[in-house]
Amino acid sequence: MKRVININLKTNKYDVIISQSENDFFTSFKEIIKTNTLFVITDKNVDKLHLKYFTNLLKQKKYDVKVSTVPAGEIGKSIKSLSLLYAKALEIGVDRKSCVIALGGGVVGDVAGFFAATYMRGVSYVQVPTTLLAMTDSSIGGKTAINIKGGKNIVGAFYQPNLVWINSSFLNTLSKRHIKNGLAEVIKYAFILDKKLYDYLSNIMSSNIVSSKNFDYIICKSCLHKARIIEKDEKEINGLRVVLNFGHTFAHALETATEYRKFLHGEAVAMGMFFAARLSLSLKTCGLEIYKEVEKLLKKANFILNIKIDEKQLLRLMKKDKKSIDGNIKFILIETIGKTVTSYVKDDIVLDVLKSFMR
Ligand SMILES: NC(=O)c1ccc[n+]([C@@H]2O[C@H](COP(=O)([O-])OP(=O)(O)OC[C@H]3O[C@@H](n4cnc5c(N)ncnc54)[C@H](O)[C@@H]3O)[C@@H](O)[C@H]2O)c1
Repeated sequence: MKRVININLKTNKYDVIISQSENDFFTSFKEIIKTNTLFVITDKNVDKLHLKYFTNLLKQKKYDVKVSTVPAGEIGKSIKSLSLLYAKALEIGVDRKSCVIALGGGVVGDVAGFFAATYMRGVSYVQVPTTLLAMTDSSIGGKTAINIKGGKNIVGAFYQPNLVWINSSFLNTLSKRHIKNGLAEVIKYAFILDKKLYDYLSNIMSSNIVSSKNFDYIICKSCLHKARIIEKDEKEINGLRVVLNFGHTFAHALETATEYRKFLHGEAVAMGMFFAARLSLSLKTCGLEIYKEVEKLLKKANFILNIKIDEKQLLRLMKKDKKSIDGNIKFILIETIGKTVTSYVKDDIVLDVLKSFMR
């Protein structure tokens, strides 16, 4: 199956090719990327599993392929890792006409994207995501970033890729935990935009058949949703894109509080979505029935929804969120499955809900 999703942005139009066929990829790639020098950035795990296959493909097509590997996990998105990339790129002759290819999960996509945005004032880049999270979310939309000590994704840029190739066969080697991690972002699209997707996910999870057959459908739906949103609000300016952050204010705070070690991003987002639903119930933007539907799907997907953590610390971290203004936190709240509303929420209400939540 081949699906092409066109992303029509003002700054850059590009295609997302969803296909397991290498020919489909190269047909588009050759049309768009005119250079012969490719700089493939990957991480240590993907290096072992898929790098050889991928660079061989490129070499067979006579490209000059240069490679650099970052550490696996969030540490790969550090300033240290980024500066090693700059140094290596200079050393091996990556120039401003070269094209960067991000082969990996969201970490590689974010750091390679930021590298591409800044190296020699910007070079072209292509996303080849290898995790479900990257296929359904992070590889499109042009958000690139690295982490610094004080917080996640604090340094970054909006920088769109020139092409995205999603080949779901990369998922064959991905662990169950990371598949579930990616499902969190898919569940997010269902909660914020798509009741039909909610029902679909609910069905496949009930019968425990989340398999490769379902992946292309899930990926396609997610990419379409993301594409339509970023087309309306590429840089999170008019408030439409902010909906994609459902559950994320809490998630980023939790990841920072636990130093990115305890929870995967999707696991933190799942908890964040549950927290957002609780907050919504408390503020009466939704009723008990919707809150229960949110809980039901997250539980079906086997996410942990309660943890013990210092709620005041979490509140402090949430207030550092990029969406906070004058210390007031802006939350995406749920109204019904497929519909949200945004609102600034006072600290004492957030703290009350956090307390009831952290048991
Ligand atoms: N830019 C965006 O719009 C956006 C959106 C959501 C998340 N993110 C970022 O994405 C990151 C999380 O992404 P992720 O969940 O993909 O994590 P990840 O990139 O760390 O990948 C998860 C793990 O899977 C391994 N891996 C990757 N592909 C594999 C494969 N095919 N088979 C086996 N192992 C494989 C990786 O080496 C890593 O250990 C976070 O840093 C988050 O901030 C960015």
